[in-house]
Amino acid sequence: MTSLAIDGKDYPVLSGTVGPEVVDIRKLYANTGRFTYDPGFTSTASCESKITYIDGDAGILLYRGYPIDQLAEQSNFIEVAHLLLNGELPSADEYADFSRHITRHTMIHEQLATFYRGFRRDAHPMAIMCGIVGAMAAFYHDSTDIHDPKQRVIASHRLIAKMPTLAAMAYKYSIGQPFLYPDNSLSFSANFLRMTFGVPAEPYVVDPVVEDAMEKLLILQADHEQNASTSTVRLAGSSGANPFACISAGIACLWGPAHGGANEAALNMLRQIGTPDRIPEFIARAKDKNDPFRLMGFGHRVYKNYDPRAKVMGKVAKQVLDKLGINDPIFDVARELEQIALNDPYFIDKKLYPNVDFYSGVVMSAIGFPTSMFTVLFAISRTVGWIAQWTEMMEDPEQKIGRPRQLYTGATHRDYVPLASR
Ligand code: SDX
Repeated sequence: MTSLAIDGKDYPVLSGTVGPEVVDIRKLYANTGRFTYDPGFTSTASCESKITYIDGDAGILLYRGYPIDQLAEQSNFIEVAHLLLNGELPSADEYADFSRHITRHTMIHEQLATFYRGFRRDAHPMAIMCGIVGAMAAFYHDSTDIHDPKQRVIASHRLIAKMPTLAAMAYKYSIGQPFLYPDNSLSFSANFLRMTFGVPAEPYVVDPVVEDAMEKLLILQADHEQNASTSTVRLAGSSGANPFACISAGIACLWGPAHGGANEAALNMLRQIGTPDRIPEFIARAKDKNDPFRLMGFGHRVYKNYDPRAKVMGKVAKQVLDKLGINDPIFDVARELEQIALNDPYFIDKKLYPNVDFYSGVVMSAIGFPTSMFTVLFAISRTVGWIAQWTEMMEDPEQKIGRPRQLYTGATHRDYVPLASR
């Protein structure tokens, strides 16, 4: 089909390299005086992109064409960041150059550290991250001109490099321990682990098993086409907001339990279930229309098959628990819950499978993170995808401010009635 006819007008059907075609309805309102209606954007393509492709029915996820399981097994997070940002796997020289740029931006302005003192010690780390990342715009004025490609690149490097530093500081502040400065001799993941779990009083030895699990966790969550938080970053960026404000908006959206907050909610759910014998009770609740409870870590707007990230994450969880000799009962509950749900007609009919958040919490808990830090780790990883998508939008010559319309069902015109007459 090359076009769709509506009221005698033809609207072109556009094809991508792979995946569903789109009907270009940009002239629909001008021609018909009507909008399309698609709350939640279940059938709407908001943009053209070359970054990430998802086939939800087949359970396929490609970063710039490369399958996520191959990248998780064979690549590292900095290399994947280069791939997402620049479109190609780096040569050895490109990798060294990109890695050096990221490494040399890991420190933060010393005055930013004072912001933490203004938060309560029990503040949720995501609340801190929303504030502190937005506040970066008050410190890095030399990289806020979004129309200067050089400044866009510097801001991108600063955000990717400083997220782990700011995240580790949020954790340290919550437990009353001193902040550690980055150590530029370490890898991205090792540096983050040391800033989080190390103390000034003694050397911190990075466990290679944990470092490898962290790398895979970061790779698996780096980008995911036009999800809610990425769409938030694009919409914020479309108004011309600076990149620090846009990423802060993305962090705020990711925090929601229906989105990136699901990893924290999923682990809390597994702990609430506690033992495999209580699983049927929770399955029944998830199926009960009168009960708002949902199986956290299950279901997905796009995947109607197994989330390929969950497959890899499930393997990583088993590896980490086995290699660290951790016998965590919640992993057994997760495995048992997965098997029961995958064989239950309700979940089969609604095509509800484990998503990336189902096992990621088991991995992060095994590494030693409290549940409150789970979505922060997701944000560290997804900052790469947000930046790649924001950059793609900024470089798009057709880019304009995003401004959806509505179906109005409110009151029509009526005149004001003074209080004395009401
Ligand atoms: C992420 O978009 C992305 O790409 C996101 C993400 C990324 O990388 O950026 O992949 C990360 O956000 C993963 C999703 C994490 N969220 C959760 O695990 C929370 C639990 N899952 C859901 O709330 C839900 O599945 C969503 C929000 C993920 C998707 O919701 P949709 O696509 O809007 O589907 P829906 O809410 O309309 O559900 C369809 C049906 C409903 O039943 P009916 O009204 O048709 O009878 O399935 C049911 C829902 O009640 N359902 C569930 C369920 N998820 C959906 N029932 C029980 N448990 C669940 N988890």
